[in-house]
Amino acid sequence: MESHDIGTAPEHQPVPAGAAKKVFVKTYGCQMNVYDSQRMTDALAAEGYVATDAVEDADLVLLNTCHIREKAAEKVYSELGRIRDMKAERAETGRELLIGVAGCVAQAEGAEIIRRAPAVDLVIGPQTYHRLPDVLARVRGGQKIVETDYAIEDKFEHLPQPKRAEVAKRGVTAFLTVQEGCDKFCTFCVVPYTRGSEVSRPVAQIVAEAERLAEAGVREVTLLGQNVNAWHGEGENGGEWGLGRLLLRLAKIPGLARLRYTTSHPRDMDDELIAAHRDLPALMPYLHLPVQSGSDRILKAMNRRHTARDYLTLIDRIRAARGDIAMSGDFIVGFPGETDADFEATLKLVRNVSYASAFTFKYSPRPGTPGAEMDGHVSEAVKDERLQRLQALVNEQQQGFIAGMVGRTISTLIEKPGRRPGQKVGRSPWLQPVIVDDKAGGIGDIIDVRITKTGPNSLFAELA
Ligand code: 5AD
Ligand code: SF4
Repeated sequence: MESHDIGTAPEHQPVPAGAAKKVFVKTYGCQMNVYDSQRMTDALAAEGYVATDAVEDADLVLLNTCHIREKAAEKVYSELGRIRDMKAERAETGRELLIGVAGCVAQAEGAEIIRRAPAVDLVIGPQTYHRLPDVLARVRGGQKIVETDYAIEDKFEHLPQPKRAEVAKRGVTAFLTVQEGCDKFCTFCVVPYTRGSEVSRPVAQIVAEAERLAEAGVREVTLLGQNVNAWHGEGENGGEWGLGRLLLRLAKIPGLARLRYTTSHPRDMDDELIAAHRDLPALMPYLHLPVQSGSDRILKAMNRRHTARDYLTLIDRIRAARGDIAMSGDFIVGFPGETDADFEATLKLVRNVSYASAFTFKYSPRPGTPGAEMDGHVSEAVKDERLQRLQALVNEQQQGFIAGMVGRTISTLIEKPGRRPGQKVGRSPWLQPVIVDDKAGGIGDIIDVRITKTGPNSLFAELA
């Protein structure tokens, strides 16, 4: 897309030796943004930047933004207003504050961000994060930079790996992007425009990164991709691998005890991947498989390229492979043209599947997507009402799922100290936090616990 400089000619100014600059990164949106923020922090660490949690201390504020729905972008602009005020106060004291916008709003809006928020110094899209150090050097030279082209070079090859101590500090669970972008073009979605077309990272790169994570003490890795189950690549002994085969390979890495992947598209759940759920104990029994709607008419208008029946049949096959699998989904209410009958079909599908968790959204027209141009936009009032009804149903299912865990013995990965003294927090195979006694195990241990009672979305347990 676009890549242009606004301002004076390049002038490289390295960070003065000994002056540790601080960067504050704020992450919006999905897990891939969380991963990207870490990789940008790693790239900046190599330039002498230390991460800080206190925005007041920062020399550089980086907002890693999300464009998936209206409110996400609006939140960014209001945050930019606050930071602009900080920058102005700072200017009076003579200390510089640089402001950067990364992520999907950066990609979609480009130079418009600097027009609307002139205090912003740099705008960088997700496909050019490896150029961040260079971009910063140019910004310190007094330019404003917008860097949102789709780089031809492989950003992952140019992004530094985090130091072992840094990985350890981040905890015993980690994200690992294996696939990025999307070629599906659902008519509501901006992702094909903000993240670009589908790219799979090569096997060797993924295995090397997973090994590094495991060596630093990571026990659970979640493979990420906008369309993660479309991942494919050349296998280690030649031949084409799909995600199922990749999962089998990653499960062999010593120390890696748990694997997950997200987010999947129903059309890419192939036999090998379903079989992996049957054959691979390390693959956690939890699957986020968005369907968006239960109405075939709406699914067609959304360009999902499957029917409600296709989805239900697929879930039957997945459950046949792994009986205790918990299903999770995403739903949009109020897509253009959605009638009461269409919405009822969604409720019916939800009742049919019974979700352990589900995310529900009101349709938000995204500029440049086909959905935004369609007739039959649904009123806010109707969207609100449908969202409430769907949420009530989904909450009921979620509570039912959690309630059903009481008395069961489950495996738990101990993750971190609890909020209260004497407690630690673990993670169940189905992603709920599990509160256990401090002495039940050390961080990184996987132990069997018996669930004694439940909270709104957490489990309390004792050693089994
Ligand atoms: N409006 C509302 N929800 C959306 N999602 C994606 N695009 C939109 C949109 N324009 C939801 C989908 C997707 C999740 C990440 O966000 O449910 O699965
Ligand atoms: Fe948001 Fe999608 Fe971008 Fe993630 S990929 S930050 S969900 S727009």
